[in-house]
Amino acid sequence: MIILKSPHEISIMREANRILAQLFEHLAPMVQPGITTAELDAEAELFIRSHHASPAFKGYRGYPCTLCTSVNEEVIHGIPSSRRLMTGDIVSIDVGALHEGFYSDSSRTFAVGEISPKARRLMDVTEKALYEGIGQASPGNRLHDISAAIQKVVESAGFHVVREFVGHGIGKLLHEDPQIPNFGRKGTGPVLKEGMTFAIEPMVNEGTWKVSIRPDGWTAVTADGSLSAHFEHSIAVTANGPLVLSAL
Ligand code: MF3
Ligand code: CO
Repeated sequence: MIILKSPHEISIMREANRILAQLFEHLAPMVQPGITTAELDAEAELFIRSHHASPAFKGYRGYPCTLCTSVNEEVIHGIPSSRRLMTGDIVSIDVGALHEGFYSDSSRTFAVGEISPKARRLMDVTEKALYEGIGQASPGNRLHDISAAIQKVVESAGFHVVREFVGHGIGKLLHEDPQIPNFGRKGTGPVLKEGMTFAIEPMVNEGTWKVSIRPDGWTAVTADGSLSAHFEHSIAVTANGPLVLSAL
């Protein structure tokens, strides 16, 4: 069942998500060669707590940190550690917060120093796919219109969408119905209604869409070791079309 939110509830979710947009502004200049992902995680936790919110992922199914930091061939759920970022790396930073009873969820892939043109293109295509998907989130459209729009951008660029992980509804729970695959057929799935709130999150691999899980039980990596990028926004379906909640 897809839970509809009132305009008041959406305004709270906007605040919960704005904190993440501000956090990304804060972290962006720190994402430099030499910093460890654990240092980014500590900074993120302080930032979220000082903004009257708490980290959403920490303790979720036993997850130990505030951020997921997924480097290069890591797709999602990379665990912050003493690993130092190096020039040429790309790092996907995924973060959620709980604020006044509502969850927020957003992710961006950052370049560390100078990166290769192919890594840059992968990041750009993934972000473009996210925005094309968001562009379909209007009342009267179908859920898989979002999925199909994402898949089209990705595959026409020669990249591949991860299939084992999907976007999701979000609200009083981090994960609500529906699941939002990053592939699918236009014109299918539930009809979108005003008040629906979604976390849309394409995970895009340079090579095969297949992933495997590292022995830590969390980190998803590309099966062929190719690069992966991940951009995510939480959005609301409104009478005026999609509203990006996790923007500044
Ligand atoms: N954005 C991811 C998701 O929607 C992050 C969850 S990480 C976890 O599932 F640690 F909380 F599982
Ligand atoms: Co999510």
